[in-house]
Amino acid sequence: MKDFHHKTAVVTGAASGIGRAVATRLAHEGMNVVLADIERDALAAVVEELTDTGYSAIGIPTDVSKWDDVQALAEQAVGVFEAVHVVHNNAGVVTAGRIEELSIADYEWVLGVDLWSVIYGVKAFLPLIEKAGEGHIINTASTAGLVATPHIAPYNIAKFGVVALTETLARELAVRKSPIGASVLCPGAVNTRIVKSERNRPVASQATHKGSAEEDRFVTFSSKLLAEQGLDPMAVADQVVHAIRMNQFWILTHPDWKRVLQERVAALVADDALSSGFGG
Ligand SMILES: NC(=O)c1ccc[n+]([C@@H]2O[C@H](COP(=O)([O-])OP(=O)(O)OC[C@H]3O[C@@H](n4cnc5c(N)ncnc54)[C@H](O)[C@@H]3O)[C@@H](O)[C@H]2O)c1
Repeated sequence: MKDFHHKTAVVTGAASGIGRAVATRLAHEGMNVVLADIERDALAAVVEELTDTGYSAIGIPTDVSKWDDVQALAEQAVGVFEAVHVVHNNAGVVTAGRIEELSIADYEWVLGVDLWSVIYGVKAFLPLIEKAGEGHIINTASTAGLVATPHIAPYNIAKFGVVALTETLARELAVRKSPIGASVLCPGAVNTRIVKSERNRPVASQATHKGSAEEDRFVTFSSKLLAEQGLDPMAVADQVVHAIRMNQFWILTHPDWKRVLQERVAALVADDALSSGFGG
């Protein structure tokens, strides 16, 4: 999609971090933006900031792990702006622990927010974007969707799933010569609040989450990494806008990761042991 002006974008997880930056960047491009998030106060604050600047923005409180909520988001977006051209399925959470320590509730929560939400988002928005006649779908995965990192199994599983879903989607769109594009965003470290994901864990899930020394180590290490070396979310948003414009499938925010991916593929084709390179 080359021309963004007066078109409509829906961004999930838009009250913070990458989602907030992408919604702001698309508003800069002249789009109407629909911001969705589970954190109502933070969402209202971002929407107010955008509308005060003169942008066309609305906020719709949404739990993206619920199909009914995602359907309602799609209906409300069309109800207000008549059409949807871009959807960025971006909301995400992470939890950490060794595989033997993680609970079923840990898997259900992370897979619900990080994978089912993207399945729901594609299901709800693809027909609307096709009806609009042109547009783009971006799904946020992670480098953890390309190389599995120790101690975050639910997150790795969800993000590999997002890569698989988006790759399937892009291939199907290409087969039918669709005017709609698809991209998968695979960030390395970005300076956001993702390490504080527990703030959004449902109460019932909290009750079965024991925590562990591994989780404490993950939080300490990742908080420092993201704060000190994480990319600015606005730099990620610039790459997302470029990818929409150029219909670029892979959005790998950190070029250093190409070496890790090459090692992974080299080990795969050499029938070798797992490559050692991995990151957060
Ligand atoms: N920050 C990084 O280093 C990094 C790296 C790779 C991938 N990612 C991915 O980027 C995406 C955005 O995360 P971020 O880093 O900006 O973190 P963030 O915590 O700053 O933002 C995530 C947003 O998702 C929202 N959210 C959580 N659960 C939700 C739910 N059930 N329904 C709706 N919204 C919900 C949060 O309220 C928050 O506003 C995630 O998918 C994350 O996995 C982040």
